[in-house]
Amino acid sequence: MTDRFTTSQTGTPIASDEHSLTAGPDGAAVLHDRYLVEKLAQFNRERIPERIVHAKGGGAFGTFEVTGDVSAYTSAAVFQPGTVTETLQRFSSVAGEQGSPDTWRDVRGFSVKFYTSEGNYDIVGNNTPVFFIRDGIKFPDFIHSQKRLPGSGLRDGDMQWDFWTLSPESAHQVTYLMGDRGLPRSWREMPGFGSHTYQWINAAGERFWVKYHFTSNQGNIEMESAEAEQIAGADADYYRRDLYEAIEAGNHPSWDVHVQVMPYEDAKTYRFNPFDLTKVWPHADYPLIKVGTHTLNRNPENFFAEIEQAAFSPANTVPGIDISPDKMLMARVFSYPDAQRYRVGTNYNQIPVNAPKAPVHNYSQDGAQRHGFKAASDPVYAPNSFGGPVADASRAAAGSWESDGELVRTAATLHSEDDDFGQAGTLYREVFDDAAKARFVETLVGQGSGITVHRVRERFFGYWTSVDATLGATLREKVGSIETANESAEPIGIGADHA
Ligand code: HEM
Repeated sequence: MTDRFTTSQTGTPIASDEHSLTAGPDGAAVLHDRYLVEKLAQFNRERIPERIVHAKGGGAFGTFEVTGDVSAYTSAAVFQPGTVTETLQRFSSVAGEQGSPDTWRDVRGFSVKFYTSEGNYDIVGNNTPVFFIRDGIKFPDFIHSQKRLPGSGLRDGDMQWDFWTLSPESAHQVTYLMGDRGLPRSWREMPGFGSHTYQWINAAGERFWVKYHFTSNQGNIEMESAEAEQIAGADADYYRRDLYEAIEAGNHPSWDVHVQVMPYEDAKTYRFNPFDLTKVWPHADYPLIKVGTHTLNRNPENFFAEIEQAAFSPANTVPGIDISPDKMLMARVFSYPDAQRYRVGTNYNQIPVNAPKAPVHNYSQDGAQRHGFKAASDPVYAPNSFGGPVADASRAAAGSWESDGELVRTAATLHSEDDDFGQAGTLYREVFDDAAKARFVETLVGQGSGITVHRVRERFFGYWTSVDATLGATLREKVGSIETANESAEPIGIGADHA
């Protein structure tokens, strides 16, 4: 006999989990069967909207330990020598829905929440150092092209390649995606990047531009397309299972955390725009500086409460760290908290997995699902003369940069090497070895052959020719052109029908 009787949500013992209350054994169910109604109604509300992107993922808790000394560049407590901070990490795929196979070719999300003594700091990055676009106003269009057709509900290579080839700034990231980086062996065996340029501010108020690199201590290991496809059918949760089982077995994955640091003034004269998210900073110009090590050592106890409800955001910065004039980053600072108010609820930051370890003092109140509240005697407005929290005016100058002046809608080229294709070509020619090049070409042949619209396929050849002339010629030869009755047989250059 158990002493744990089932109860209703309000704690009242209930009589049965098997039989509804009915008027006689075969009679009508009655509306005042409060437990039946509660059970069905609660069940209907078990789902919250999935993330609009990065819906499929998994994660774990960990610790970040600072082993280097970067105090010359940032005053952030989380990066001071010897500091150990509790963390949460979530990995994900970008385009697939919640149940989608982990091993579909995609960019992988790499989000880390640091529960620092100065509030939560989130790095919400990917396993690639760049991105497909450089202005947030294009993000919804980009994602629509990668998700599903409105009519059939199917994913569609024509629209994916139509968007990419009409957005030549995507070439660098698409080169990563179609290369080995698009199919990691596991989340443990891949790197992570903050991708954007961020700002660090030291104790003296001096500013620096930084990029984050997480290098996997498990190595960078990928899988081939055929194996990925086979696993996609056999075990859709392959990455999620791998991470969970590794941590359960005490095999704790870790990443060394490095930064590239650019002096503040360098940004003005560097040879390309250092805030352009489609570019990497060559290590020869800005070498990696080790900050510490991040280790995942604890699985979630409840996937929904701790991973599904987790809310990561580039807006979550701490003193000594801020954003940069990267247009993508500025759009993201708005987008994530907005998404989370909708997806999780207004008071999502009060849910244990999102709540900071640092105290929260402000004048926000109420809203759906509010848990915490202040003492009744605390003032509810600012300014007040009753001892309520006051803002720290000395922080006003932190996280700043000079503005260009007039409001414009342009991506003016101010730096000599602000092109779209150069770094994609370097990645293909100088970073991929011969075997990686061969796999890359094979993947692109498959992709190109799947394009059914003549002008998109022609633009596909033009796009890869701009990355590398020989690559473009190889693809044209192996994929071949298609003729369609209604379309011009003339190649249409990149951007030609975009103007
Ligand atoms: C998730 C928007 C660019 C990495 C999300 C979510 C939104 C979003 C709305 C879902 C958030 C949630 O419901 O919790 C955008 C917009 C972008 C952008 C508007 C461009 C302006 C990027 C870039 C990266 C990135 C450049 C990586 C460098 C991620 C990751 C997640 C995510 C990793 C999943 C976070 C998690 O694990 O919960 N994004 N995103 N996104 N995004 Fe972005």
